[in-house]
Amino acid sequence: MDMEKIPAREGNHNLKDYERARQTFSWDSIKSNFSWFETGKVNMAFEAVDRHADNPDKKDQTALLFSSPDREEKLTFDDLRRESNKFANVLRKYGIKKGDRVFLFMPRSPEFYASFFGIIKVGAIAGPLFEAFMEQAVRDRLQDSEARMLITTPDLLKRVPQADLPALEKIILIGEHEETVDQYINYKVEMEAAANETEIEWVDLEDGMLLHYTSGSTGKPKGVYHVHNAMLQHYATGDWVLDLKKNDIYWCTADPGWVTGTSYGIFAPWLHGVTNVVRGGRFSPDDWYHTLGKYSVTVWYTAPTALRKLVSAGKETVEKYDLSALRHILSVGEPLNPEVITWGLKAFELRIHDTWWMTETGAQLIVNLPCLEIRPGSMGKPIPGIEATIIDNEGNELPPYQMGNLAIKKGWPSMMRTVWNNHGKYESYFIHGWYVSGDSAYKDEDGYFWFQGRLDDVINTSGERVGPFEVESKLIEHPAVAEAGVIGKPHPERGEIIKAFITLNDGYEDSEALRDEIRQFVKTGLSAHAAPRELEVRDTIPKTRSGKIMRRLLKSWELGLPTGDTSTLEE
Ligand code: PRX
Repeated sequence: MDMEKIPAREGNHNLKDYERARQTFSWDSIKSNFSWFETGKVNMAFEAVDRHADNPDKKDQTALLFSSPDREEKLTFDDLRRESNKFANVLRKYGIKKGDRVFLFMPRSPEFYASFFGIIKVGAIAGPLFEAFMEQAVRDRLQDSEARMLITTPDLLKRVPQADLPALEKIILIGEHEETVDQYINYKVEMEAAANETEIEWVDLEDGMLLHYTSGSTGKPKGVYHVHNAMLQHYATGDWVLDLKKNDIYWCTADPGWVTGTSYGIFAPWLHGVTNVVRGGRFSPDDWYHTLGKYSVTVWYTAPTALRKLVSAGKETVEKYDLSALRHILSVGEPLNPEVITWGLKAFELRIHDTWWMTETGAQLIVNLPCLEIRPGSMGKPIPGIEATIIDNEGNELPPYQMGNLAIKKGWPSMMRTVWNNHGKYESYFIHGWYVSGDSAYKDEDGYFWFQGRLDDVINTSGERVGPFEVESKLIEHPAVAEAGVIGKPHPERGEIIKAFITLNDGYEDSEALRDEIRQFVKTGLSAHAAPRELEVRDTIPKTRSGKIMRRLLKSWELGLPTGDTSTLEE
């Protein structure tokens, strides 16, 4: 689509000369923004919380503006320091130390953020889990990480496996609960008894901080391992891309169970000491506009799937609210439709800045910067310090307009350092020093990158990444299902929806009731967002001679596309 280019935004952003910044930039130049610059010993929690709490001008500033349909709370930087100190002391009391994995499985809440920083303060590794996960999803992650401790709520405890987790010593419960099981610890009781001060564990830049599980096209979800050093990039992009200033009220709509909700829902804003809005509860256009207006949000980071729903809600809805404080909008997670950008120009009189990155990359890499023109449909250009290109399967760089693998030159601060328990998997992402993203794209003659699709079978539904293998594995656990093949099917609002093809075991017959039951089985066993919206019963599932499900073929059939090479198809 040939859409008009949108000129660079006038404003108070720090990065004004992109080309020059790219030529002269080195990551070392960011280091002087941190307290560890001299000592080399670091802790992300100190930089994001305590440093501001130690500053008399900042300590009473609101750090967290939390609201959900039934709760509203404000925490200053000083509050957040105290609460995270207390939690660090609770963890220490139960023997948690540097390098241990401590997982969080709960809805967004002030306690989440206090616990999260408490974990980091003792040098442990935080593993946030999305609250909608069901038992299997929780089990896979706790097993693989060998988490020693889990923080959850009595409600969600039902989805925490009672067996098969030998490493899990204690479960901290936030909220009233009656069971007096030895393994359970009461958050409130422990926090009341804990001291306000703690010793921060000073670690090395390369020490672990965070494990985010994410899906690939094969195997169980993998633990993407991030280190404290990532803060360099969280800080730099918070400045250049989010354009954060001292008095900003910032809202990132992502849940901290996903990487956007940590890198840009926690680290980037708090490294810059801005007021961070967290809104719990479900999405609705009115609720979101209300949140933007009520808190006078100035910088807003959200996702195409939500923006598309806001577009559908129409102009009448947005016009009910006073959004005059808003000055900068960003998007991530899936392709940002040019139509949405056009609508943003009308509805907010603002550009919407697409940003591209992944769980694995830890922070933004290719972005639309305030200082650059926007070409609607393009993800933008690599930030200073990042070299991006398009390569073929042999690792050769391709000229402009040729589609290929989107790849990034190895060596940026926020890159994952390994895949937990599977360093071989980590190494498999690289070819000739390039990190191969799994996305296909091309670049134009001016260096703008244009996303084309995933090269593997990973599904992106409403901005959430789902591995087909996980869903297939769950499907075949159902007694009626013999085989399953799962694909992403394009959908106007959700990007993709999950479609499953199954064959049935003898004695079962296709019916709507059975299909409903199977869908429900995935929903309650794995997670709602992984449940197939469409389910089709077939006589066979196409497979290669070596027994691999040919998802590509299923997809071509579904979409009425040419089937391509089927020479490996089993008879
Ligand atoms: O396919 C790309 C898509 O989301 C994938 C990464 O998903 P995840 O690790 O869950 O991280 C999402 C948020 C960082 C990418 O490989 N993706 C992400 N951003 C964009 C995108 N696709 C198109 N345009 C984007 N801006």
